[in-house]
Amino acid sequence: MRNILIYCILCIISFGCTTNNTNNKVLWKKYETYFPIGTAVSFPMLTNECEPIINKQFNSITCENEMKPEHIHPEEGWYNWSDADSIVNYALKNGKLIRGHVLVWHQQTADWFFKDGDKKASKDLLLKRLKDHIQTIVSRYKGKIYAWDVVNEVIDDDSAIFYKNTTWFDICGEEFISKAFQYAHEADPGAKLYYNDYNTENPVKYKKICTLLKELKSAGVPIDGIGLQAHWSIYSPTKLELDNALQSYAALGLDIQITELDISLYKGEEKRRKKLPGETCQFTTQLDSIQTAQYNMVFEAFRKYRQNIKGVTFWGVSDKYSWLNDFPVEGRDNYPLLFNREMKPKKAFYKIQDF
Ligand code: G3I
Repeated sequence: MRNILIYCILCIISFGCTTNNTNNKVLWKKYETYFPIGTAVSFPMLTNECEPIINKQFNSITCENEMKPEHIHPEEGWYNWSDADSIVNYALKNGKLIRGHVLVWHQQTADWFFKDGDKKASKDLLLKRLKDHIQTIVSRYKGKIYAWDVVNEVIDDDSAIFYKNTTWFDICGEEFISKAFQYAHEADPGAKLYYNDYNTENPVKYKKICTLLKELKSAGVPIDGIGLQAHWSIYSPTKLELDNALQSYAALGLDIQITELDISLYKGEEKRRKKLPGETCQFTTQLDSIQTAQYNMVFEAFRKYRQNIKGVTFWGVSDKYSWLNDFPVEGRDNYPLLFNREMKPKKAFYKIQDF
């Protein structure tokens, strides 16, 4: 009787292990000969239920918000290092690569950057601040952060407009872009420097991005690669769109990194809006299969371009903590990642390792 009881307990434990864990599958190991597999991490994730997954499944880490200007440099002359340092130390202790995100962005940048007292800052002052900002941060993590998103999202989505109309552009013109790369390179000549953007598979946009990258390269600007954010959905990109875009970027002779991958269940929207009555979807078996097929398609493309792709980073670990639960519609559940709200691997997790 006692033996039967022990046998039953062991069966229950073993069943629990096989359903709750990843069946000993380790994503980064499967891709070890292809490219590093990363995830965005926020400071609380280092001590919550995401940590074991981060530690086991990923060999590269990006700070989701902690290195953005408003967080790390909230006031002139004051750098708030603590959260970013904690994430960097965690990564180093656990043998992970670290991508730096992000040195220059028009969002999540404190207003003081662009002001001189009550007036708008001059171009000289803004470039001086840009240099101080970039060189202080890049020097601190020199030799620890192997790749930086130096400039983020300067190209407009509108076919008739080239650069986004931002305060950076308004005050400095396009010069802040090349200067940012130059300052970063001076601070850490060994770091790989990336231009990072979204909607990079849209032909109108990728032609403009390619024009910018070619200009930077021919002007001798120290740029190493293009970061494709890859905030995609079950509707787009198509296989052909993705292939065309990857081919265009590869032809530039620059490295490519997939920097913020997630696959939403909703069509892409750029602007925030209120939730419509009844607007939320359940993660049905059918949607699970469609999402899995989309993940499979994009990973087939990544493997095809393995000579050019130097890293693939997911924008988070679990659906529970994804930014897409609050963007573009606050409080609308989304299911864009590889682990569900119970931290269990989804079908897509297994599918992208099935090759
Ligand atoms: O820091 C405040 C906190 O003090 C406050 O209590 C809390 C209440 O809502 O808000 C916190 O700020 C939030 C911040 O994330 C940090 O958690 C902001 O509301 C929220 O809007 C912000 O969202 C981030 C978003 O960038 C901002 O644009 C997302 O987490 C982050 O995933 C997202 O990441 C960007 C990439 O950097 C660049 N590419 C696009 C991607 C998605 O927008």
